[in-house]
Amino acid sequence: MIKKGIILAGGSGTRLSPLTKAVNKQLLPVNDKPMIFYPLSVMMLANIKNILLIVNPGQINSFKSLLGNGSRFGVNINYKIQEKPKGLPEAFILGEKFISGDNVALILGDNFFYGQNLTKTLEKSSAHTNGARIFLKDVSNPENYGVAKLKKNKIQNIVEKPKTFISNKAITGLYFFDKNVCKFSKELKPSKRGELEITDLLKKYKKLNKLKFELIGRGAIWSDAGKIKDLNNISNYVKSVEEVQNIKIACLEEISLMKNWINKKNINENIKFYGNCEYSNYLKKL
Ligand code: G1P
Repeated sequence: MIKKGIILAGGSGTRLSPLTKAVNKQLLPVNDKPMIFYPLSVMMLANIKNILLIVNPGQINSFKSLLGNGSRFGVNINYKIQEKPKGLPEAFILGEKFISGDNVALILGDNFFYGQNLTKTLEKSSAHTNGARIFLKDVSNPENYGVAKLKKNKIQNIVEKPKTFISNKAITGLYFFDKNVCKFSKELKPSKRGELEITDLLKKYKKLNKLKFELIGRGAIWSDAGKIKDLNNISNYVKSVEEVQNIKIACLEEISLMKNWINKKNINENIKFYGNCEYSNYLKKL
């Protein structure tokens, strides 16, 4: 079982400037909620209650005033400061004490996942303890992502931001790792862009024949919100689904209540916390 998860919510969000000059990217609105709600909901749907949130220096209080220690959502949130973004695997070096020899999931704070069957896939994946597991999605711009080439239903090759086409299967920003992840991360050397690369970490697991994948099919969507266009697209998508279906995506209290991690009394406390707003009106209906 994977019971611990890290959300990487640091970074300077340069491509979203000036939006990110005063506010952390992961606190920007995606329709009616801060972006961080979405990756946090993915962790919760994977039954992960023990969470480490990695944030920039000086921004920890903004996250704390929104999420606190997580008890409002029936989870446990710890915080860690990342002085400078040095690549995704740094999460496992900064989080070593939190991980303390267990299996762990990682999700990037600006990644958005939604769709039918996703919950089942998440539950299934978090039940594993051996090796690493990634989630692949067909994209039209593979040059912007880490990419996996498949052969006979196995991963044959992995390349970070390939300059020439090798595959259209992007490696999305959600990863499940076994207990070797801290050791392997510490062995990595920075790439040409001066960062530790998640793809190099995945290659270590691949070499040991311990890298598994799940395909995110056409019935589910994935996007990162690195650029204005993506941020607006995700936000509009959430707005459409929420309005047409009369539901909320990534309502943390709803997920928690469904899992019996909190009760109706907790919901009422959360309504008081948010005040008179549309989100509270939704909570009242739960
Ligand atoms: C990072 C990873 C890349 C992955 C992507 C998913 O890219 O390096 O392998 O496909 O996240 O969002 P970056 O956001 O650093 O460009």
